[in-house]
Amino acid sequence: MSAFMDLVQKRRSIRDYRPDPVPREMIESCVEAVRFAPSASDTRGWRFFVVEGDVKDRLVKEAMGGVVVPNRFAAGAPVIVALAMKLNVVTHRLGAGIKRIDYHLLDAGIAGEHFILRAAELGLGTCWIGWFDKKKAKRILDIPSDWDVPALITVGFPAEEPKSKDRPLASEICTFRNGK
Ligand SMILES: Cc1cc2nc3c(=O)[nH]c(=O)nc-3n(C[C@H](O)[C@H](O)[C@H](O)COP(=O)(O)O)c2cc1C
Repeated sequence: MSAFMDLVQKRRSIRDYRPDPVPREMIESCVEAVRFAPSASDTRGWRFFVVEGDVKDRLVKEAMGGVVVPNRFAAGAPVIVALAMKLNVVTHRLGAGIKRIDYHLLDAGIAGEHFILRAAELGLGTCWIGWFDKKKAKRILDIPSDWDVPALITVGFPAEEPKSKDRPLASEICTFRNGK
C-alpha cells in the first residue's frame, strides 16, 4: 500500500489527548501543507487562528458547549485551530450567489483536510468541530466580522487509539455514467 493510502486509512478523529504541548513547528508544518491546496479561482482565502492557553479555555467554555452535541472534550486538546475564510467578493459572494455553490466552504474543507492529513503524518491527533457557536468564537478570537469560520479543529498528541470502523465500499459511493 502507498504511504498516502496508509495515512488516509489510519487517520481517525481523536477526542482524547495527552496534555503535552504541540510544538509550534508542527502546527506550522500543517499550515505549510495548506499552502498547496487548490481553491476556487485560486482565491486562497484560508486564515488559520491557532488558539492555546487561556483563550482556548474561554473558547471551549463559551463557544463549544451544547446540549445536543457537547464538544467539551475539546477542553483536553492543547490546541484548537479556527479555520477562517476571508471571503472574496467575486468568487465567494457574486459567483456563489449566481451558481448557488458555497465555494468558500469547499475551499475550507480542502484546506482543513490538508492540515489534518499532515497532522496525522506527524503523529498528531485532530478532530473537526462543526458544532460550535460561530458568533461567540469570532468575538473571542477577534476575527473580522465579514470573515466566515466554518470549522474548528482540535489538535494534540492522541491519548486514544480508536478501533477501525466500517467504511462504505467504493462501489457504494461511486457510480460511472458513461453513456453505455
Ligand atoms: C465538517 C465536520 C464537522 C464535524 N463536527 C464534529 C463535531 O462537532 N464534534 C465531533 O465530535 N466530531 C465532529 N466531526 C467528526 C466526525 O464525527 C467524524 O469525522 C466521523 O464520525 C468519522 O470518523 P473518523 O473521523 O474517525 O473517520 C466532524 C467532521 C466533519 C468533517
